[in-house]
Amino acid sequence: MISSTSVPRSRRRRARRPLRAAVATVATAGLAVTGIVMFSTTATAQADTLGAAAEQSGRYFGTATEAGYWGDSQYTSILDSEFSSLVAENGMKWDATEPNPGEFNFDGGDQLVERAQANGQAVRGHTLVWHAQQPGWTAGLYGDDLRNAMINHITETAGHFAGQISSWDVVNEAFEEDGSRRQSNLQIEMGDTWIEEAFVAADAADPDAKLCYNDYNLDGINAKSDGVYAMVEDFLARGVPIDCVGIQSHLSTESDLSTYQANLQRFSDLGVDVHITELDVGGSGTAQADVYRTVTEACVAVERCAGITTWGFTDAYSWRGDETPLPWDANYQKKEAYTAILDALNAAAGSNTGQGSEPATAAYEQTARRESPLVAQLA
Ligand code: G3I
Repeated sequence: MISSTSVPRSRRRRARRPLRAAVATVATAGLAVTGIVMFSTTATAQADTLGAAAEQSGRYFGTATEAGYWGDSQYTSILDSEFSSLVAENGMKWDATEPNPGEFNFDGGDQLVERAQANGQAVRGHTLVWHAQQPGWTAGLYGDDLRNAMINHITETAGHFAGQISSWDVVNEAFEEDGSRRQSNLQIEMGDTWIEEAFVAADAADPDAKLCYNDYNLDGINAKSDGVYAMVEDFLARGVPIDCVGIQSHLSTESDLSTYQANLQRFSDLGVDVHITELDVGGSGTAQADVYRTVTEACVAVERCAGITTWGFTDAYSWRGDETPLPWDANYQKKEAYTAILDALNAAAGSNTGQGSEPATAAYEQTARRESPLVAQLA
């Protein structure tokens, strides 16, 4: 029996980083021409980078990157100046960080953290557990051997980066389109409890990072997002530590976004932050810009939407390069999409709606932790 007193007390609201771009507020008292009419206006500076524009409403704007791209100075000048958060495209995944059992290599992640810190950027962690990009050796593990390997991986990796990560994608892509659990080796070998066990282990290893579940095709109210919603609701009710849901948002100009904002809002109302974690939009021109604008406007309209990350920023380096999905083209020219994002972020400046930093663990701290041998082991 685990009592609520064993819940770590360190999962508290984390202080937001100070705004890098000060919002210039100019209150102008107008001349009272008639001696009666007075007016004042509040003008907000239009930030000229995505990161600074997002910070005006208390959010971040980030991108995925990798040290392998950093030899290109055109690339790094944009990376270092436009974004307020970085995430490793591949360098923090299980295959990269633990190529052999118990042998860890954090070089890629360490390089990313170092660059981010040098530029005053936050770091998202991606991803502790995923059915893809596992090291080859996990394929030979069954039952508790896989469970122990997963827990050890989370403990060592989240522990290594503890204090440096704003939010971790603890578990990635564990649901099918119909809202059921993906039948991965993780699900088959460990059963339904593996996701909560992963979150408990991540919480123990890095109590200060926000802990997210991350997936694709959560771009509206649909069977898959219903399944994730039910899981989060259940976790909150039972005191499993979860703080946020990552909405990957690999989109195209054909995507149906009619319930995109409503979906963000229902997770926010449930009591978790939402993060747009891997945004890219196949297409071009105004149609592509409109999708970026819709997503950005949705995020800034939802209080607990903490920020947006694009999955890369230039079509020169994109997993979907032939779909030209990013805000900069392959020659580093800003597209219409860039302006659409920037304008939507600037339009939200000063609205102060970005309150997405309260850990859902307020509920967690008030609830007895799940009674499981794993929790006992970690307590
Ligand atoms: O590291 C090896 C290298 O040693 C080898 O020479 C080369 C030969 O192809 O492959 C390299 O690995 C590649 C790896 O990226 C690193 O570049 C893999 O083949 C390639 O499959 C892998 O692709 C990544 C993909 O995840 C893997 O599923 C993409 O770069 C990355 O953008 C993508 O990111 C995922 C998110 O993590 C989760 N959501 C979906 C998103 C897009 O698929």
